[in-house]
Amino acid sequence: MDEVGIGIVGYGMMGRAHAYGYTLAPRVRELAVAPRLRAISGRDADAVARAAGRYGVDEWTTDWRALVARPDVDIVDVCTPPGTHAEIVEAAAAAGKAVLCEKPLAADYASAQRAAESAQAAGVPNAIGFNYRKLPAPALLAQMVAEGAIGDVLLWRAVWLSDEFLDAQIPFDWRFDRRLGASTIADLGAHLIDLALWIVGEIDEVAAQSETFTRRRSGRAVDVDEASACLVRFAGGARGTFELARVCARRPCDFFVEVNGTRGTLRFEYPRLNELWFGEAGDDGRLYGMRRIRAEHPAHPYAADWWPIGQGVGYGTSFVNQAADLLERWPDGPWEPDLAQGARVQAVCEAMERAAADRRWVRVAEVTA
Ligand SMILES: NC(=O)c1ccc[n+]([C@@H]2O[C@H](COP(=O)([O-])OP(=O)(O)OC[C@H]3O[C@@H](n4cnc5c(N)ncnc54)[C@H](O)[C@@H]3O)[C@@H](O)[C@H]2O)c1
Repeated sequence: MDEVGIGIVGYGMMGRAHAYGYTLAPRVRELAVAPRLRAISGRDADAVARAAGRYGVDEWTTDWRALVARPDVDIVDVCTPPGTHAEIVEAAAAAGKAVLCEKPLAADYASAQRAAESAQAAGVPNAIGFNYRKLPAPALLAQMVAEGAIGDVLLWRAVWLSDEFLDAQIPFDWRFDRRLGASTIADLGAHLIDLALWIVGEIDEVAAQSETFTRRRSGRAVDVDEASACLVRFAGGARGTFELARVCARRPCDFFVEVNGTRGTLRFEYPRLNELWFGEAGDDGRLYGMRRIRAEHPAHPYAADWWPIGQGVGYGTSFVNQAADLLERWPDGPWEPDLAQGARVQAVCEAMERAAADRRWVRVAEVTA
């Protein structure tokens, strides 16, 4: 069987998650190629060497450019902070490598667009890590909306609550530096905006407010929003809201999305990720309410690759499904979602950031123009 050489840039939480994804992909999906973790890079030699051992990667380096240049690396997988993504994607594309980049594609729209264009110009398969699309329940939600299960979409609602920034004593790191870590709108919001664009369609115009409660850490100024709330108008006529917050006590990584249509409602709650809630307006009145779908049936997206119904899947599954989808389409692609979709999401993020800064409605076209 042909091997596909993988090079992972960054050995932190996402470097680990992606390595896990490639390792398990051939165990759950029958693939025509075998992924081989050839190299991993990071700035700290001891730490990256240990990571290579733990993640099952053949070799390590402290120079990501050396990783990109290796002839035995076919896919460059970018798992570093957002502000570093565009440069690495551009170098990988120029070297003729396929690219998977973690979200958000960049810390600003111009860089995201440049990264997407470089992959397009090089004609290499390219993908953005919107991994939540790769779980059965959100994928089923998208499928049901597309099939008309809730009629025409009227409202979209998305909330992401975490306590990651609540403690004012957390020392400064890249997440508090907007140039490197991007905004909270982009960091948390990118996933939810991607789901909205995928499920509902284009967003035309946005309004937003943001706040940073702890403005200095380790003596340094923090320029990242800790909490933002946004209103959106979709091109198709639907209206929506997003709330993204990292100061919510005892909320670890709680997100939910809800879509209300002319004939029904669908709701996904991440803490119960094997379930999808469905309410049908046309139901017998005696059944009034929301039905809990167990999104683990072999008829559901991705579910047949996994365990018998009732066993459930988890966060790690999204990275395995993501890797399996890419490898299944090796070497020609196209991959889904691609970097152009990553840039499209970034445009909405930037419109929200401008709307909050200027206290006005901002058209997404103003950013992309
Ligand atoms: N899809 C998801 O579920 C998910 C979850 C968490 C993070 N992410 C994204 O993945 C990316 C990486 O996040 P992470 O949580 O793995 O980060 P991390 O801090 O755990 O790891 C960062 C890695 O990048 C390297 N690096 C390169 N340049 C750096 C710099 N200037 N400053 C700091 N580190 C640098 C570090 O050496 C390290 O290997 C980010 O874009 C983040 O938004 C995605």
